[in-house]
Amino acid sequence: MKKIAMLLAALLLMTTVFAACGGKEDTSSAASTASTASTESTASTADSGDNTLTMATNAFFEPYEYYEGDEIVGIDAEVGKAIADKLGMDFEISDVDFEAIIANVQSGKADMGMAGMTVTEDRKKNVNFSQSYATGIQVVIVPEGSEIASIDDLEGKKIGVQQGTTGDLYCSDTPENGGFGEENVTRYNKGSDAVMALLSGKVDCVVIDNEPAKAFVAANEGLVILDTAYAEEEYAICIAKDNEELLEKVDKALGELIEDGTVQKIVDKYITAE
Ligand code: ARG
Repeated sequence: MKKIAMLLAALLLMTTVFAACGGKEDTSSAASTASTASTESTASTADSGDNTLTMATNAFFEPYEYYEGDEIVGIDAEVGKAIADKLGMDFEISDVDFEAIIANVQSGKADMGMAGMTVTEDRKKNVNFSQSYATGIQVVIVPEGSEIASIDDLEGKKIGVQQGTTGDLYCSDTPENGGFGEENVTRYNKGSDAVMALLSGKVDCVVIDNEPAKAFVAANEGLVILDTAYAEEEYAICIAKDNEELLEKVDKALGELIEDGTVQKIVDKYITAE
């Protein structure tokens, strides 16, 4: 086990056993869809009644959330809707910058944040998290034929990340903490922008979650994902600290949807096991 991975795993208080990754057959163009869609909020919560569950996300993260035309689809979008259904609530998604999700939840602009969001100790200081509904792995995307063959080769390389994500936090940390130094990291608003920068040679690699990485690689020729995983993480729904009542309701509904196989069914729809 690589030292870096161990450090990161310890940081996340998570196991370092990497589950076999599921493949996917989706070939829709995540990066090109993303470039045409706007990051502006698509739904205002100001006028939503009390009986609407609003989910803040960042919808450039296939297969968890992405645009199909004007509609935001994906695992989070469907699980979120299923939770709202179970609670007898209407459902609305607002698409914001990933970094703004927690603030949106804290301020009450959105009831919950669901965005393939990793549970971290730092985020737990600002919001509460539901139980986990999925696992993510940070991986490295490189151009085919790159001299980067493992995590250790990232030293001194130009790394592209999505701003404010765990990939960003890990990579921009100091080498003593398992990172590669702020000066080597370029932050992009969307994961798809980081991938575009990789395609045009502005960065040498992109560190991002494994399932979106697979979608980007499937949609863009000439990219590969390194075999070595960087860190394993748990995804969960975040809810404002002062809204424990909603946390309880959402967590219970999510638990039931996991229990009765609904979540797995939704995951299977978007991620095809190899
Ligand atoms: N799992 C990573 C994190 O929590 C990345 C999530 C990015 N999600 C998104 N919808 N863009 O930091």
